[in-house]
Amino acid sequence: MRITLIAGSNQQAATSTRLTEYIQHLVQSHGHQATLIDLNKTPIPFYSPDDAHGGHEALENLKLAMHEADGIVLATPEYHSGISGVLKNALDHLGQDHFNNKAVLSVSSSGGAVAVSSLTQLQTIVRNLHGINCPEWISIGGDQRKSFQTGVAYSDIHPDVDKRVRRVLNAFLDLTTVLKVRQ
Ligand SMILES: Cc1cc2nc3c(=O)[nH]c(=O)nc-3n(C[C@H](O)[C@H](O)[C@H](O)COP(=O)(O)O)c2cc1C
Repeated sequence: MRITLIAGSNQQAATSTRLTEYIQHLVQSHGHQATLIDLNKTPIPFYSPDDAHGGHEALENLKLAMHEADGIVLATPEYHSGISGVLKNALDHLGQDHFNNKAVLSVSSSGGAVAVSSLTQLQTIVRNLHGINCPEWISIGGDQRKSFQTGVAYSDIHPDVDKRVRRVLNAFLDLTTVLKVRQ
């Protein structure tokens, strides 16, 4: 299967991005193809209804990876009880043809204990785009973010956090498989 992951932080050392890289690593270890779009490394122009930005390399790559995806992972920092501006901007460039009937896993990192607001917002956007929300999501908050700071090896991720990430990822991959068979 092909999984496309969008890391929606504009910070180089973002914990949500490091977590997304870890999820990419796990997806690949399951034998699937995983394409990671890091919006900090490959910025997308501001969406405008007046300008389709045709030929913009990063935007074309994003749209292609989303078209080809069987399942999608969206990751965001929790900013002011919502998702990041860069992720919302990227999603505004996309439509139902990128999401229709595909499994989507929402992932977030927050200063507070749980990133419920941004995850709920993401699931609302996914519903609007006709994606199928994975019933579970992944939230790292407070001290849980230490496992995803720069320089921390995957083998040093806190066992409780690792267990949850792997369990939710398995549920997401199962849902992706079921939806792919039905298409
Ligand atoms: C502009 C801004 C707004 C934030 N708003 C919240 C918030 O509403 N709730 C919260 O728990 N943390 C908030 N934080 C803290 C971030 O969620 C936290 O630093 C998170 O780890 C950032 O994710 P990242 O490491 O992927 O960049 C905010 C941080 C910034 C810079």
